[in-house]
Amino acid sequence: MFVCVCNGITHRQIEEAIDRGATSLEDLTDALGVAAGCGTCAAFTRQLLSHALEGRPAAQHAVSLAA
Ligand code: FES
Repeated sequence: MFVCVCNGITHRQIEEAIDRGATSLEDLTDALGVAAGCGTCAAFTRQLLSHALEGRPAAQHAVSLAA
């Protein structure tokens, strides 16, 4: 499923970037370009990030919330 239509970024690509260590929207923008265009996808990308980081070490999650 495409999350970022502007840059053709899929849900799977976002999950893979999180698995490689992305902990913030900025990390995902740097890695993939998600939310680098119109920004419409930013809120949903943050939800995906928050959901993906649930259950991971608290320190890692705290970093994502601070960004
Ligand atoms: S849909 Fe992601 S930047 Fe426009």
